[in-house]
Amino acid sequence: MARRPFIAGNWKMNLGPAAAGELASSLKSALMDETGVDILVAPTALAIPSVVDKLRHTGLLVGAQDLHPANNGAYTSQVSGPMFREAGCTHVLVGHSERRSLFGDDDEVVNEKVQASFSSGLLPILCVGETLSQREAGQAESVVAAQLHAGLAGLAPDQVVSTTIAYEPVWAIGTGVTASPDQAQEMHAFIRSVLASTYPSFVAAQTRIQYGGSVKPSNAAELLAQPDIDGALVGGAALTVESFVAIVRAGS
Ligand code: 13P
Repeated sequence: MARRPFIAGNWKMNLGPAAAGELASSLKSALMDETGVDILVAPTALAIPSVVDKLRHTGLLVGAQDLHPANNGAYTSQVSGPMFREAGCTHVLVGHSERRSLFGDDDEVVNEKVQASFSSGLLPILCVGETLSQREAGQAESVVAAQLHAGLAGLAPDQVVSTTIAYEPVWAIGTGVTASPDQAQEMHAFIRSVLASTYPSFVAAQTRIQYGGSVKPSNAAELLAQPDIDGALVGGAALTVESFVAIVRAGS
């Protein structure tokens, strides 16, 4: 079964409810008839209701950028999976490198969050990726394999298939430096080989793997043409309608 392309925009801590709603309206007009690709935007939590409202009755999906592993309780400032689900989200990013490096999300917490996504009816987008020093030390594959094994621990094969893996080399995020199509393809093929050696064969064949890190209209088509790159997780270029639409079209 062919893997359907999946293009996601991570708006990070940009665009409040008004600006996010405006971008969502523009994306709706531009992308409503785009049927060959799954499209998702992940606004800041506060802007989710306004974006869900604008994208109602379109195929465009809304995701959260993180979740707390518990359903509710005394966790000041946090938002849980069931709350995002109730607000209209279908997906949630888990283990983004900014969560790992700035907020201390380790592999154990990342796995708790992946499990919490499924138990609240959200599909996780599990982000993995090595730092520049890890790559230079020849550890890129071992780091990514460890993040994968830990992040997916305890999941049934059909849950792994429903998980999207986002390979985001930390050195390519927000830096303007993109992994070359060959570098990205090489790691995506490695990720698929890790899935193949861990799960029944349909899992590696069907699980979607997005590339993230300075994806822009000028490099999207070449990245997305690689056989193991099934989509993109876009940061900066997801914040304007022209560039995000161009990336979506490159993937469709
Ligand atoms: P940039 O596209 O801005 O490099 O960000 C990538 C990213 O972190 C998406 O989650």
